[in-house]
Amino acid sequence: MKLKIAIVFGGRSGEHEVSIVSARSVMKALNRKKYSVTPIKISKTGQWQPFKSLAALFQKKFDVVFPVLHGPFGEDGTIQGLFEMANVPYVGCGVFASSAAMDKYMTKIIFKTHGLPQPKFLNFTREDVKKDFSSVKKLVQKILGFPCFVKPSNLGSSVGISKVKSAAKLESALLLAANYDRSILVEEGIDAREIECAVLGNEKPLASIAGEIVPSREFYDYFAKYVDNASKLFIPAKITAKKNEEVQRLAVQAYRALQCSGMARVDFLMDRKTGKLYINEINTIPGFTSISMYPKLWEASGISYPRLLDRLIELARKRHREKQKNKYSFESGSNWYK
Ligand SMILES: Nc1ncnc2c1ncn2[C@@H]1O[C@H](COP(=O)(O)OP(=O)(O)O)[C@@H](O)[C@H]1O
Ligand SMILES: [Mg+2]
Repeated sequence: MKLKIAIVFGGRSGEHEVSIVSARSVMKALNRKKYSVTPIKISKTGQWQPFKSLAALFQKKFDVVFPVLHGPFGEDGTIQGLFEMANVPYVGCGVFASSAAMDKYMTKIIFKTHGLPQPKFLNFTREDVKKDFSSVKKLVQKILGFPCFVKPSNLGSSVGISKVKSAAKLESALLLAANYDRSILVEEGIDAREIECAVLGNEKPLASIAGEIVPSREFYDYFAKYVDNASKLFIPAKITAKKNEEVQRLAVQAYRALQCSGMARVDFLMDRKTGKLYINEINTIPGFTSISMYPKLWEASGISYPRLLDRLIELARKRHREKQKNKYSFESGSNWYK
């Protein structure tokens, strides 16, 4: 009996196209002796093709759903909630980890309580920026200095992110970020190399060897990520074995802190001078094209792309089985509510 796998891709976010490319790679690599595969494309307006309604999707009774979606409405816990309601196993992180990782500010709060190293940060709301910019500016100058990075808390692909080199450029950067989110994060700028690590597993997560991104521009902005095709990827990262171990250890700690399951890619900033590692962010549905960092890191660590997909599907089913053991109701034996 083949397992019935649904690949959900496309989606309403700005990363619609990237998701299509990732899904194509996943579908090509899935072992057809083991799986029957149904592609489900979410259009930019939110239609689930080829289904007319979501009910139809769940009547098909898939064994596992694999969301290959990036950004809001795909990677942020919303679709994971839908899968939970339908009681269908799905690949990757659950609702909490997905939404916590999508919110850069909440991620930082959680990392802070776990004592994980990260750049200094401040959080402001859109109202703070619009009503009392002078206080915001004073705080940024006093606590973070320049350069600093201004980001909307909930987004990806570097959209709305600015590197701010002087106080004179701060307000426009904050207003730009405020277009995308009510919650805005400002971080101390680290002169850093960008190191990434792939993590795989549920209770006992494993870390891959570290890789490195060398952006084609001043930082890894939208153009360096998708447009100019000139950023470079190094696997393994050119760092010492000891640093690599530190990356792996921190990656697993960060993964655990956010209660991730299935998979995630943990991204680091490594200070060029001191070598100090800072955790930058966690991506719960990393790029999945055949040349993407996540599958490439596993390949270099001894797990081929098709085997990686097998493992993710197994992990999804395991987590689902584990969850079925939870009791959700309590019989008190009294009729207090009547
Ligand atoms: N504190 C920082 N110091 C130095 N560079 C940073 C910092 N924060 C972000 N960057 C740069 O901006 C890029 C995008 O920021 P990131 O937080 O990873 O957002 P996204 O979720 O859009 O990828 C990073 O890959 C890095 O190049
Ligand atoms: Mg990033």
